[in-house]
Amino acid sequence: MTLSRPWPLAPVLAHRCGGLLAPENTLAGFAAAAKVGCGGVEFDVMLSGSGSPVLIHDETLERTTNGHGRVAGTRDEDLRALDAGRWFDACFAGERVPTLEEAAVRCISLGLSVNLEIKPSTGQDEETARVVARRAGELWAGAAVPPLLSSFSESALEVAAELAAHLPRGLLVERVPPDWLQRCRRVGAAALHAHARYLDRATVIEARGAGLWVATYTVNDPGHAQTLFDWGVDCIITDRPDAVRAFLPQHSAPTGYPAGLHARSC
Ligand code: G3P
Ligand code: MG
Repeated sequence: MTLSRPWPLAPVLAHRCGGLLAPENTLAGFAAAAKVGCGGVEFDVMLSGSGSPVLIHDETLERTTNGHGRVAGTRDEDLRALDAGRWFDACFAGERVPTLEEAAVRCISLGLSVNLEIKPSTGQDEETARVVARRAGELWAGAAVPPLLSSFSESALEVAAELAAHLPRGLLVERVPPDWLQRCRRVGAAALHAHARYLDRATVIEARGAGLWVATYTVNDPGHAQTLFDWGVDCIITDRPDAVRAFLPQHSAPTGYPAGLHARSC
């Protein structure tokens, strides 16, 4: 089989909204990604204690906010009061834990394509997928490019397939398991998302030959990104969208790209 459709998102996606250009999973990250001409983003979505989808990576609040305890044990009003930017750099103080709705509005207005990672708290795989798939379908209804939903959780992907069949899905793995193709088929995944450390050229070729797109993370070296594109990888997820985009001739930076832009620019 050959790929019948081109990869629908930007070929370079900023990891956790803006990679290292801004605090992860914040609205500031979207602005940072767009500023360097990156056409798309990856971010993580989990349920709050109120059952609302919010952007955050860890199950606990300590690393990326000034809060304490579990995300799944924290109500919306308490999450809203947290600072999600100062830990990264004082100039990002005041950034919040965004809701999925805020993220969708911002991505659509900035023209950013989205890989939405369903990131359930322990034991909440299906409930998280139910809420996220339904809400993503509503928020991006009518958008030119719908989000691609990925997850390490196969049960989450199965629920997403039932509730938002029109949104493409990616099976997220670290190491590529021997039965990756059967797993992709079982959850109806259109893409395989694998850690770059464990991805090899033969797997890329086999996956694309089977009609799957291939995305890989987290690739911060532009030369490595070029090698992966040469293998046929469709998408690079990077913490350095500035460096990766600027380096690649086929994804050249927009006019006015600020020379020497570096990570942690406010
Ligand atoms: O989706 C790629 C990557 O985000 C998966 O790992 O831990 O950064 O969410 P993680
Ligand atoms: Mg992620």
